[in-house]
Amino acid sequence: MTGLSGAGKTTLSYALESALHGMGYFIQTLDGDNVRTGINKNLGFSDADRYENVRRIAEVSKLFLNCGIITIASFISPTAEIREMARTIIGEEDFIEFFINAPLEVCESRDVKGLYEKARRGEIKEFTGINAPYEIPAHPGLEIRTDLLSIEESVKKMIDFLLPLIKKG
Ligand code: ADX
Repeated sequence: MTGLSGAGKTTLSYALESALHGMGYFIQTLDGDNVRTGINKNLGFSDADRYENVRRIAEVSKLFLNCGIITIASFISPTAEIREMARTIIGEEDFIEFFINAPLEVCESRDVKGLYEKARRGEIKEFTGINAPYEIPAHPGLEIRTDLLSIEESVKKMIDFLLPLIKKG
């Protein structure tokens, strides 16, 4: 899942994980909470560090996929180049891009972690959407507008999209 901070990636990842788990699938969710505090805790938010963040996540995801575990990776992954690199590592067949989208004003008004306010005050340099770029995905597998859909509606949309692909294996 790609999208701005506050767009709803983490919320939807865990809601999707729970729904798929309830259907009997093995799932692993990777997000900032379990990756940037662990395997990637030496990385910041420069372009090079974001690239390395996503590269390692893609390699780890590939290992999970190799043992049949559906892996939900939720990271801003702000550029087309970064997302393309992840797609190449994981393989076209196994990579699905979900664009979790809400207008910047909505993400900013949610400001779950208070980081947008800090970025506006100039206390965080290179904050995505404020003073670092976010390139909108040109052809996402699915776009979820979290300002327009409820969590339940969003999960249903993702499940409806995924199930035929999972069944095909
Ligand atoms: S990515 O760009 O490398 O894909 P990632 O998804 O891992 O980013 O981390 C984003 C999260 O880190 C945000 O949701 C936010 O909580 C926090 N964060 C801290 N500093 C920044 C920053 N400069 N830009 C974006 N997010 C930041």
